[in-house]
Amino acid sequence: MSKKLFIETLGCAMNVRDSEHMIAELSALEGYELTDDASTADLILINTCSVREKPVHKLFSELGVFNKLKKSDAKIGVCGCTASHLGKEIIKRAPYVNFVLGARNVSKISDVLHRDKAVEIEIDYDESLFAFKDFRSSPYKAYINISIGCDKQCTFCIVPKTRGDEISIPADLIVAEAQKAVECGAKEVFLLGQNVNNYGRRFSGENDKMNFTELLRRVSRVEGLERIRFTSPHQLHMDDEFIEEFARNPKICKSMHMPLQSGSSEILKAMKRGYTKEWFLNRARKLRELVPDVSISTDIIVAFPGESDADFQDTLEVMEQVKFEQVFSFKYSPRPLTEAESFTNVVDSELGSFRLSTLQAYQDTILDSISAALLGKEMEVYFEELRSDGYIAGRSDNNIMVKVKGSEELLGKIARVKITETSRSVQYGEIIA
Ligand code: SAH
Ligand code: F3S
Repeated sequence: MSKKLFIETLGCAMNVRDSEHMIAELSALEGYELTDDASTADLILINTCSVREKPVHKLFSELGVFNKLKKSDAKIGVCGCTASHLGKEIIKRAPYVNFVLGARNVSKISDVLHRDKAVEIEIDYDESLFAFKDFRSSPYKAYINISIGCDKQCTFCIVPKTRGDEISIPADLIVAEAQKAVECGAKEVFLLGQNVNNYGRRFSGENDKMNFTELLRRVSRVEGLERIRFTSPHQLHMDDEFIEEFARNPKICKSMHMPLQSGSSEILKAMKRGYTKEWFLNRARKLRELVPDVSISTDIIVAFPGESDADFQDTLEVMEQVKFEQVFSFKYSPRPLTEAESFTNVVDSELGSFRLSTLQAYQDTILDSISAALLGKEMEVYFEELRSDGYIAGRSDNNIMVKVKGSEELLGKIARVKITETSRSVQYGEIIA
């Protein structure tokens, strides 16, 4: 009988891909197969996130639960960003944990499995040329890493300390992965990195020079591939050439993530984001001009140290001007190893919560008018998921979630849909071709 692996993945798309890599290695080299019941598993992995404080607290309570319900000889491993920054502290606080594997050391999963109490968290470890075995959780969409780490030093962010410096993966490897995904039936690839359009800044090899715009052109030449998405780009690197390629290339999906963080130039400076409110608005305007159908998503942090009412109003003003199709908003959470952790001009926690709910309520009013305008519109939807309520869900080119009544025959197909009912987060429609 094969051994069973239970894996819980928290955090971002990069963690999802890291988990796929670990599943692939453990299944090919160690004979594991996936289970969604932790109590029957021989190995329990938690792939953690440390971007905000809450998920870190949750980790130790979850570990306690897993330790109680697991089989007596089952192993527990903690992976991901919290593993990177807490390291052996995790085993100190939860001595039953068998190993700790950092976000930059995923390729060592089979190795740590056989070394009890192993802690592998080197953040300058170079995995950019490692050939992982294959595993994909969806046959329709393939996540592909294009770089690891992040070279920015945003003062609120722990990621550069958990994932290390940025290294790009050579384009040939990325294109080969895209080809393989298409051969296995995927129509869409999702290129992943902490800062994708900074691609090409540093490679392990010497002759791999290429920037993100060129990489997009190369990937789009993969035959049979119909859709390219990517996350996360950074507006600082959105030069005209990049936006023009984005506009012109029919395979590139027309949805862009522009992580604003704050609309106040003062706060952006304190965050060391490298752009101003005006630069952000300029890039968003250029994008909307060249790509009228584009949907723009963003990340916003409220109550960063020093944020005044006027700074917060600046953020709301950018939201009013850009009219983001999607906003991920967070209350600032001080993180260890970051510069902002020592900032003393903290914003009162209740005021932070008030700002967060004000911002979210404001975004809801924007979303109501965006979704109302979708009624009667037609769009091409790529169907990826059969829901238990009898609906099939998919996404339009510009990332609108659409559900239609239908059967699994639609899975993996692109069809033209007319929107018949709208809501804030999901649109309903019927197939017209
Ligand atoms: N390069 C990635 C950033 C990963 S972190 C990207 O651009 O998406 C994802 C988001 O978490 C950030 O954009 C930011 O909005 C939020 N975040 C990061 N650190 C945070 C902190 N200390 N407190 C609150 N939110 C934070
Ligand atoms: Fe974090 Fe800024 Fe990089 S948000 S991941 S340091 S671009």
